[in-house]
Amino acid sequence: MNKKIIFLGYPGSGKGTQSAMLSKEFSIYSLSTGDAFRQMMKEGKGEVADQVRNCVNNGILVSDELTFEVVKNSLPSIDNSWILDGFPRNLNQAKILNEFCPPTEVILVDIDEKIIFQRLTGRRLAKSSGKMYNVFLNPPKTEGICDESGETLIQRDDDKAEIVQKRLEVYRLETEPLIKYYQDKGILKKINGDLPIDEVYSNLREVLGF
Ligand code: AP5
Ligand code: MG
Repeated sequence: MNKKIIFLGYPGSGKGTQSAMLSKEFSIYSLSTGDAFRQMMKEGKGEVADQVRNCVNNGILVSDELTFEVVKNSLPSIDNSWILDGFPRNLNQAKILNEFCPPTEVILVDIDEKIIFQRLTGRRLAKSSGKMYNVFLNPPKTEGICDESGETLIQRDDDKAEIVQKRLEVYRLETEPLIKYYQDKGILKKINGDLPIDEVYSNLREVLGF
């Protein structure tokens, strides 16, 4: 059966890390709405790009209409397997997705809010290789340089301390209610995100039956 998998969890819980590993190993199409918006911010100049920039850089949600348009236009075919990382993020988005193409499983990457701060403020990215590091938890061999591509690592604008606080607040208010929503549908599976990356991944495979 085709799997339609949603990754849910606090900012910094490891949704991006785990969904990328799963997508790579099993060749499943994966979409991160956050990555899509960052790409729009980089490329775009008009009103829409400004609207996205204003939301993402301030840690608040982009409008449901625009977000769903991105999802709808990016999913290759609703009949194939796919992974959504960071969508839906509120009840309205969940209901829209349900009408369009209901998920078959929802993975909640469960994590203690206290360790998130270090994860996000320490996160560094290599743009072309796509590799992710953390200066505290998972540093590159040479400070500021990607082990694989040799490129300079960058920090996301919304990983600054005050914006991280805002993102956590938005998660609690708008996204956390989705846990009950998917629990009630009987498709929520919880994994402990507070373990080494490979252990989280092996638990993920187990709950998905891969
Ligand atoms: P988005 O890009 O989705 O950000 P987020 O949900 O805040 O999540 P993150 O990407 O920060 O964390 P993650 O869970 O992917 O963790 P990661 O694997 O990177 O969204 C950004 C913005 O876009 C939003 O604020 C909003 O404005 C907008 N947006 C996006 N989707 C939207 C939607 N549906 N509707 C409206 N607006 C939307 O890991 C974090 C760090 O921890 C890394 O350094 C990593 O190396 C490290 N790490 C990961 N796992 C482990 C581990 N097990 N042990 C130790 N370190 C680990
Ligand atoms: Mg992410």
